[in-house]
This record gives sequence, structure tokens and C-alpha cells, in this order.
Amino acid sequence: MSGLKLFRYVAWAAVAALAVVSGYLVYLQASDGKGTGGLVEPLASIGGPFELIDGNGETVTEKTFTGKPTVIFFGFTFCPDVCPTTLSELQGWMEELGDDAGKLNYAFVTVDPERDTPEVMRDYVWAFDKRIVPLTGSREQVDKILKEYRVYSKKVPLDDGDYTMDHSAGIYLMDADNKFVGTIAYGEAEENSLKKLRRLIDNASSTS
Ligand code: NI
Repeated sequence: MSGLKLFRYVAWAAVAALAVVSGYLVYLQASDGKGTGGLVEPLASIGGPFELIDGNGETVTEKTFTGKPTVIFFGFTFCPDVCPTTLSELQGWMEELGDDAGKLNYAFVTVDPERDTPEVMRDYVWAFDKRIVPLTGSREQVDKILKEYRVYSKKVPLDDGDYTMDHSAGIYLMDADNKFVGTIAYGEAEENSLKKLRRLIDNASSTS
């Protein structure tokens, strides 16, 4: 291949690659603007059966939430920043949704069951909104749901002998059959977050 031919070949290959990449980006944007929220296929294995304890000490499983879409996220009550922010944002969105807020389940699952007993969880979570179900359980029960939802969490010792928890942020959106349909990222704009919640509600009412 001559130098010029090689140059042309490389240039066309670059153009072709760019076309594939931009086509994919367009696809991502389009799929995020309608339907169930995009990225459904690759992440379809998020979620699964669980058994946990709510703020009243009652057993809750994934079946408890079947029939309504569920907004579920993970954290711990001693969290200095991310969890209280997420809880108060969620509380604001529920207010915005008005009566429609009742068409969704809400659950906050602890990654720190050693300290977050049902009582601790209840007092903390219900201070934001009593419609948010506080969930804890044994270490094994919690580890099972963390694994299923691919939640990262790690105990981090503090200088004073205490500890904090590192954990992944973000909210999972599950449909009425507990199938994963999308996420709301930590810090996502309110307008976008509300759009996703309304879509979750609309999709559930159009298929039932
Ligand atoms: Ni947190």
C-alpha cells in the first residue's frame, strides 16, 4: 500500500469508527428519552429476591412490593452527606408528585445492619417521610440484597475507633414486577429525576 493509500485507508477507518461511536451516543440519548429508561438489557440482572425487616419489625420480601414500581436505594443512618441528601430530595419529589406518589413504593436499605436496627432505621427514615420503607436485617440478609443490586459497600475505620461506610450512591427504579428499569444518579437534576419517576408511574399504569 502506498503512503497516500494508507493515509486514505486510515482516514476512512477513523470516519467509520466515529460514525459507530456517534450512532451509539445517539442511541443512548434516544433510549434515555423514552421507553423504560435505556440501558435495560445490559443491566437487566440487577435485583432479585430478598427478605428483610422493616421499621415495624415485620418481614418484607420483593413480593411485598410487587404490583407497584419501586424506588429503592442503599445507605446507612450515620451517613454524613449522601444518604440524608438523597432522602430529602426524594421527599421533595414525592411532594411534587402529589397523589401520584402513592403509585410507587419507596425503600431505603441499610448497608450497615450492625448499627441500623429496625428502630434506628424507623426513627431516621420516617423523619423524612413515612411512606419510605426502612429496611434492615441480618448481615447475611443484607449482603444478599447488596450483591443482587450490585451495591458496593465497605466498612472504613475512623481514628476514634468508630467506623463509617463507603457505599455506592444512586437510586434504582424497579417496575411493578421488580424488574430493573433504570437509575437516578446522585446529584441528578430534579427535573430529570421527576421525569423518570413519572415515566415509571405511566409505564406501570399503561401495562396493568
Ligand atoms: Ni450514605
